[in-house]
Amino acid sequence: MFENFQVPASLRPSDPRFGVGPSLIPVSHVEALAKTGTSLLGTSHRKPAVRNLVKELQDGLREYFKLPAGYEIVLGNGGATLLWDMIGLGMVEKNSLHFVTGEFSEKWYKAHAQIPWLKAREIKVEPGHGINPKDEPGFDMICTTLNETSTGVMISSLPTLGDEKALLAIDATSGAGQIKVDWKKVDLYYFAPQKVFASDGGLYIAILSPKAVERALRLQQDKSRYIPEYMKWSHAIENSRQNQTYNTPSIATIFLMNEQVKLMNKMGEDKVIAEAKRKADLMYAWAEEKPYLSPYIQEKSMRSQAVVTIDVDDKYKMDDLAGVLRAQNVVYDIEAYRKLNRNQLRIALFHNVSYDDLVKLTKIISLAVETN
Ligand SMILES: Cc1ncc(COP(=O)(O)O)c(C=O)c1O
Repeated sequence: MFENFQVPASLRPSDPRFGVGPSLIPVSHVEALAKTGTSLLGTSHRKPAVRNLVKELQDGLREYFKLPAGYEIVLGNGGATLLWDMIGLGMVEKNSLHFVTGEFSEKWYKAHAQIPWLKAREIKVEPGHGINPKDEPGFDMICTTLNETSTGVMISSLPTLGDEKALLAIDATSGAGQIKVDWKKVDLYYFAPQKVFASDGGLYIAILSPKAVERALRLQQDKSRYIPEYMKWSHAIENSRQNQTYNTPSIATIFLMNEQVKLMNKMGEDKVIAEAKRKADLMYAWAEEKPYLSPYIQEKSMRSQAVVTIDVDDKYKMDDLAGVLRAQNVVYDIEAYRKLNRNQLRIALFHNVSYDDLVKLTKIISLAVETN
């Protein structure tokens, strides 16, 4: 299907990358990396050139998120996936409660459920639905996913925990930077940079409240838990305090992320989020207007402003269209999350995906369907 469809030259987007991760990395950032020549790549991550870069990134994130005093920015290798285990092993006392809305929140829950000394419980909704996390007595960690990348559902409110010793932990991987949180309520907020922060994968950034730091360092004293050396929070925290990672990082990844943070700091978080909402409005209005489209997420307040998901009438095979657009090098990575098994579009609204390119994308898809 769609094999004879040709994208008119006037509708070609300025950049073909609409994927939700890895996401669009501006070519100018790659050029800036190349310009560092012999001064950065291939130099020691324990020496000033790289450590100053790490510090600039940490300071830039602190400025962007307007973090309260005492919150620490911890970096390490392994991406967000590593943290599911590292948090379970080293930051949960006895039991964690997980609000599960899709594939990624489920994986986090399962990681904790396998740890012999923990009790993990999940509160789960069907894919396509959302649920805001709630306080639940008896759990020392409440876990939630800011933006469920697999379905395009986001959370819109956070609870204040009644037990002042309990921690609220957030996987913010695909929402960080475009969905605001109230930091006073958050103890652990982590993400990988291959989404809004436009870098390569493999790195994690974890923002810890003083309570989370205290918990992690204290639990590590408990010799009855086996925590692999690589996953010890003390290594991650101590190295990050010295603007380093525990083991050798990808310097290019840190550089590219820092370029993106500088770019976003020129606008500031509020304007970045306003722009994300403008793009979300465009996409959901299009999905509601066309008879062959419908937004996958029904509850309006839970529709993501970072990842949009749109169901398409089964008559028009979106995987076929995505293949045709990819072959013409016009549009990449708009397919649905594979395990959802739906005739669906999933499109990034990340900061670098421009409003004008989204307009063109909607026109391309409408034209393809309507002239089919
Ligand atoms: C919400 C969420 N959490 C975790 C991950 C895993 O991240 P990583 O591939 O960096 O381990 C992803 C990846 O897409 C994600 O979207």
